[in-house]
Parts: sequence; C-alpha cells; structure tokens
Amino acid sequence: MLTISKDLPLIIIEDVDYVYPNGTVALKNINLNVHKGEMLGIMGKNGAGKTTLIRTLNGLIRPTSGDIYINNENTNSKSIAELSKNIGLIFQNPSHQLFANSVEDEINFSLKNLYLNKEELQIKTNEILKNFNLDKYRDRSPLNLSGGESKKLAIASIICRAPEILVFDEPTLGQDAREIESFIKLINTEKEEGKTIIIITHNVEFAFEFIPRTILMESGEIIADGPTQNVLNNNFLTERSSLILPQTRQLSLALQKIGFQDINKAVSKNDITEYLINFLRNKTTIVQEE
Ligand SMILES: Nc1ncnc2c1ncn2[C@@H]1O[C@H](COP(=O)(O)OP(=O)(O)O)[C@@H](O)[C@H]1O
Ligand SMILES: [Mg+2]
Repeated sequence: MLTISKDLPLIIIEDVDYVYPNGTVALKNINLNVHKGEMLGIMGKNGAGKTTLIRTLNGLIRPTSGDIYINNENTNSKSIAELSKNIGLIFQNPSHQLFANSVEDEINFSLKNLYLNKEELQIKTNEILKNFNLDKYRDRSPLNLSGGESKKLAIASIICRAPEILVFDEPTLGQDAREIESFIKLINTEKEEGKTIIIITHNVEFAFEFIPRTILMESGEIIADGPTQNVLNNNFLTERSSLILPQTRQLSLALQKIGFQDINKAVSKNDITEYLINFLRNKTTIVQEE
C-alpha cells in the first residue's frame, strides 16, 4: 500500500520482470525510484535490458510481473496514449517515430492533441521549427534529413507536447560534437523547467560530466545505482559493463603510478584540474625561491 507524501518518487518501479514472447528474459526483479526533476542515466552492455526497461514506462511493454507507478498511479490501468502524455520516449532510431510527409507536418501532427485552434497551431509549429533550427527544412520529407537532423526532429516532435518525463535512448549516438553540445543545452533547459529526464547512453564522458545519477544494467538486472562519477570511476563495474574509464580517471591512475598518491581523492575534472594547478603553483614557487 502506498502512502502519499510530497516526497513520493515520480516513478516507482517495483519488482518488475519481463519475458519476451519468445522466452527471452529481458528484465529481472527491477526496483527503481526516480524523483521529479531528477536526471538519470542508464548504462550497460548491449542486450542488458535498457531499451526494454524504458519501453515499460509508457506501456509499450507491460511487465510480466511487478508494478510501475507514475505520479502515484499504477500504469497497468492506463493506455499507451494516456501514458504518453506524461512520458515522451525518444527512440534510438528516429525513423521509427517519424512518419509525416514533411518536417512541418510532423510537428503539426504532434501538436494536434493539444487542442489548439488552426492559427495557434501554426504559430506553435513555427516556434518549434525555429527553436530547433529546422525551419529551413519545413517542406522536406523527414526521410531526407541527415542522421543528426532527423534525431533533432524526433526530439522536437516529442518535446513540443511538453511531457513531464523525457526518456532518450542513446541520444548522442552518431552525433558530432556540435550536435552533442546542442543536445546538452536542450536537456539543461528542460531540467530547469523541472522535467524529469532519463537517458540511455554508452557515452562515458557525456554521462560523467552531465548526468548526476546512473544505474548500470547487466543481463536484465540493475547492478549499480549511484552518483555517476562514483559508478564510472569504479574499475570493477566499468570492466563488467565493457565501459572504458573516464579520461580523468585514466589520468589520475597514471599520475598515481608515478607517485601522486593523494590524487586518488580527486574525482571530477575540476578536482583534478585544481590538484594539478596547485601542484604546479607550489612547484613554481619553489623554483622562484631558488
Ligand atoms: N522484440 C524482442 N523479442 C525478443 N527478444 C528481444 C526483443 N527485443 C530485445 N530482446 C532481447 O531482450 C534483451 C534485452 O534487450 P534490450 O532491452 O534491447 O537491451 P539494450 O537496450 O540494453 O541493448 C536482449 O537479450 C535482446 O536480445
Ligand atoms: Mg537498446
């Protein structure tokens, strides 16, 4: 029985298992709470169950056993359409969610169930196209966009409906540095607006810098849940999940090997930078004194 309190997590996943019709056990005893306004990373090897897990959130997949509560309501009593108002899933492959004849129609269609009048609908569509820098492609077929552009359109078509929870499946995959930068800007804006954000990613550096909390999945189970920097600085966990250690961790291990013992305490990029600046400053002072 759930007691209602103001601190109740926005998403509660309780003892969830999922077995695909062909017998593949994809989720095993998943327990996870996510609070409103949190940004959560999901990492783990291919086949670990990450995509399956996020598909349970909007009812595309119904748990074989266990329960999922969103906003204190059991999702098993809700349709995909109802759940999708609250939860925007942005898939790994944008072509799976784009179907209109033009970029403009794609946004127009997404906004349809917001019950705007014709004029408001056009104003809102123009605003979205402009914000996402897609207005120059408005008449183009979504099929004729570059990978980065179609990903942007897929994101725009979900975000324009302002769901409370945004879930991204490998958003930085195949994106260049500038596209990743603009994605980071976008999620920061959404976060400031109080949105809850879940991001599946293999991108260690991105997660390390931008995602405060991460769960690691392996063979359908959650094997770690904690501050991203702690999870990713842990050799045992990263090796198990076929992830490379963050560059800063590699640097600090290399420095430790040549005698910088206390660098071990420096976790983030800032800590290490500060440590090295202090070291160089002291060294410079000594040199000057001689
Ligand atoms: N439609 C499906 N039918 C049967 N098995 C599937 C299906 N989709 C995924 N799987 C299997 O479920 C497991 C988890 O897959 P998935 O959730 O896609 O992992 P991830 O997103 O972490 O790569 C894998 O063993 C995968 O092969
Ligand atoms: Mg996947």
